Amino acid sequence: MANVVIIGTQWGDEGKGKVVDLLTERADCVVRFQGGNNAGHTLVVDGKKFILHLIPSGILHPGKVCMIGNGTVIDPAVLIQEIDRLNGHGVAVSPENLVLSRYAHIIMPYHRALDIARENKKGKSKIGTTGRGIGPCYEDKVCRGGIRTHDLFNRKTLRKKLEKNLEEKNFMLGKFFGEEPLDIDAIEEEYLAYGERLAPFADHVSERIDELCRQGRDVLFEGAQGTHLDVDHGTYPYVTSSNTVAGNVCAGAGIGPTRIDRVLGVVKAYTTRVGEGPFPTELRDATGERIQSLGGEYGSTTGRPRRCGWLDMVVVNTSVRLNGLAGLVITKLDVLTGIPVLKVAVGYQCGSRRLNSVPPELDGLEACRPIYEELPGWEEDIGRVRRLGDLPSNTQRYLKAIEEIAGIPLAIVSVGPGRDETIALKDPFDFE
Ligand code: IMP
Repeated sequence: MANVVIIGTQWGDEGKGKVVDLLTERADCVVRFQGGNNAGHTLVVDGKKFILHLIPSGILHPGKVCMIGNGTVIDPAVLIQEIDRLNGHGVAVSPENLVLSRYAHIIMPYHRALDIARENKKGKSKIGTTGRGIGPCYEDKVCRGGIRTHDLFNRKTLRKKLEKNLEEKNFMLGKFFGEEPLDIDAIEEEYLAYGERLAPFADHVSERIDELCRQGRDVLFEGAQGTHLDVDHGTYPYVTSSNTVAGNVCAGAGIGPTRIDRVLGVVKAYTTRVGEGPFPTELRDATGERIQSLGGEYGSTTGRPRRCGWLDMVVVNTSVRLNGLAGLVITKLDVLTGIPVLKVAVGYQCGSRRLNSVPPELDGLEACRPIYEELPGWEEDIGRVRRLGDLPSNTQRYLKAIEEIAGIPLAIVSVGPGRDETIALKDPFDFE
C-alpha cells in the first residue's frame, strides 16, 4: 500500500493529466486537493481527446474512485457539464466513482465577475488569470463568507449567505468596477438546481480517504497548476490563489502528513508559462515558436498561447526542495526532437551572485539571467521507444543531465501524448 502525490514542478501544464491517467492503473482512488476549473488536463485515450477541468483524470478508468477534496473550488455548472459529457462519451460517472467534498467552496457568478473586472481594471499590470473566479472564491473562503457545497442543499442557508454576500459584491461590482449588479433570485434558483444535481455525489472526502487507507488501498493525489504558481512559494503576485505544493494535500484532502509515502514531480522537458509573470528562460524567437507549435502549447482552459522556453533546472530544483520530491516524471521529450542544441539553465546570475534556487522576491527574479549548459540535440523520432537504452545517445544524455542536476531519479519518461508512449523506469507506488 502506498499513497503517492503528483505535483507540477514548473508553472503548470507539465502534462500531469497523462501521468495521473497512467498511474491510476496502479491506484484505487485519485484525489484532487486544490484549485478549480482554472486547471485543464488534456488526455488522449484510444485516439479520443478529453479535456477535464475538475474531475480527476483517473475517471477514465473503470472501477476507480475519484474524489474532489475540500481544498478545491467548484464551479458547479462546469462540474455538471463534465459529468454529462463523460457519460455521453460512454465513461460512466456516478456517485459510485465520483465523490465531491461537502466542504469544497463554490465559485459563484460574482466571483467570476469580480475576477474579470479586477483584471480589466489592472490593465497592463494584470495577473493574466483564467477569469474563472478562482481568486475571489478563495478570498471568500479565507474571509469566512464562502458558500460551500453543502450550502447548496438548503434554500434558507443559501439565501442568507447570498443576501450577505451580494450586498457587498454588488456594491463592489457596481460602484467600484462600474459593472452590472447581479440578481439574487436568479442565482438562488440556479444554484439550488446545481445543488440538487450534485447532492448524490457529496460526501466527507477526508473520511472516505481514511477508510481506503485503513483497507490498505493505494491513493493517488493529483496536483493542479504547478509549484511556481503556489500562492506562498511561487512568483507572487503572478500566482494562483491556492497552495499548489505537496504539503497542501493534507489540508486540501483532510489527511495527515504521515499518510503520504512519496511525492513525484512532473517536469516538462522544456518550460512553459501562461499568463503574466517572470520567466527567466523564455524564448522569444523561432525556437520558442517551434516548441509552441510542435508541443501544442495552447492553454486547455483558455486557449491562450503558452509562453515557451528552455528547461530551467533552477525552477525544478526549487520544486524538489519545496515538495520533498522522490522522483521525476519527464514529459513531452519528443517535442525537442530536431533542435540541434538544447540549453538547460543550471543557475541564475544575479548581479555578482550566483543563485541555485528561485529567489522569492519578484525584483530579484527579474534581475536574474540564466546560466546555461548546452547539450547536443537529436534528430531521431523517439515516439516509439519504450526502453531508456533504446533512446538516441543524446536524448539519454539530456535525461542524465536532468537526473544529475536534480539529484533524484527519473521514474517515468513520456515520449508522446498516448498512454503507451511511455518509458516506465520505476513504479511510483513501490520504489526506494
Ligand atoms: P487563476 O488561477 O485563474 O487566478 O490565474 C492565476 C495565474 O495562474 C495565471 O497566470 C494563470 O494563467 C495561471 N494558471 C492557473 N491555472 C493554471 C493551470 O492549470 N496551468 C497553467 N497556468 C495556470
